Amino acid sequence: AYTDGAHASPTRLIIPSPVDLHVHLRDFEQRQKETVASGTRAALAGGICAVADMPNTVPPVADRETYERRLELMSHDAACDFVLNFCVDDKYSLSQAASVDLFFIKVFLGETTGSYVLEKGLLENVFMLRKPVAIHADLKGMREAIKYSKRYETPLHICHVSRREEVELIARHKDERITCEATPHHLFLSGDHAVKPPLGNANDRDALWAALGTTIDIVASDHAPHTLEEKEHGAFGISGVETLLPLMVTALVRGEISFKHFYAVMHENPKRILRSHGIEYGFGVGGRADFSIVDTSESYAIDPALFHSKAKHSPFSGMEVEARVVETWVRGKRFFSNGACTNEARGAPLSAFSKEP
Ligand code: NCD
Ligand code: ZN
Ligand code: ZN
Ligand code: ZN
Repeated sequence: AYTDGAHASPTRLIIPSPVDLHVHLRDFEQRQKETVASGTRAALAGGICAVADMPNTVPPVADRETYERRLELMSHDAACDFVLNFCVDDKYSLSQAASVDLFFIKVFLGETTGSYVLEKGLLENVFMLRKPVAIHADLKGMREAIKYSKRYETPLHICHVSRREEVELIARHKDERITCEATPHHLFLSGDHAVKPPLGNANDRDALWAALGTTIDIVASDHAPHTLEEKEHGAFGISGVETLLPLMVTALVRGEISFKHFYAVMHENPKRILRSHGIEYGFGVGGRADFSIVDTSESYAIDPALFHSKAKHSPFSGMEVEARVVETWVRGKRFFSNGACTNEARGAPLSAFSKEP
């Protein structure tokens, strides 16, 4: 039996229900960066069965009409399953959010790709809707969002936690409504790669690793594809949906994360977050057969030229990992096998009454 990453070493692992809850699929007027088709095929190649799409697109998913257009596009083009987030940045989008069946209301409290930063003074109003809120924020913004989450009993998800002080803040105030995520780049990388929030120092990374599976609920890629040209001009973001699982399984195999915490951040907690939104998700008897098969028999260097994403570049380029995704199964069907998506790879929205599309 596979009990502790440090010891037994089977060559193939079944990873139950891998889901990536932070993915920028772009498309619309940014098809040069990524399309729904390329980004979701990249997800399957990375062993990911479902993604949460981020709304800072051009135009942003910040009104009912664009949301419907996004849902239509995703329903046609997505190769893996998905949920849609909705962006609130002003009074109009706030009023629209009330009537949309969204996953999270995404609020940007700081500058990043696109400029959909929430208008000053509106944060409390967002929480008054009592719909789940996900935030991009610095320490100060996190503190404020936590306050409103408690005041209005509104679920809050804190994106890409990157600093020790942020982990400590969240640990002090965490309750069952507050969740947060860390990204592989903030866990594994140092230096000054262009990404928001910026990479932290060794002290920050130690805090993130120590909090995985306790204060930090999930690991998500924050897949943020740009063209090489845009990256050369300093665009923020990393093409990460294909490296998330190989990196985390490598950490498991090397004993850098316990099986218990790996299982928590990659399966139990994502499932719990989805279920808190009324979405039935998760591997097991009576559940959905979503899983990927990962080969851990040999190490290889990450080669972004082989990415299915349009963004074929990565700060992880050349890094040795010990986990290769060989198959990805969604709803009991093989969607990805031996390097290519199959003809069955057709995504559907995750829903409370999930059935075959
Ligand atoms: C993201 C993007 O490019 O959309 N960029 C990033 O550096 N993470 C936006 C974001 O998640 O902040
Ligand atoms: Zn249609
Ligand atoms: Zn962000
Ligand atoms: Zn992001």
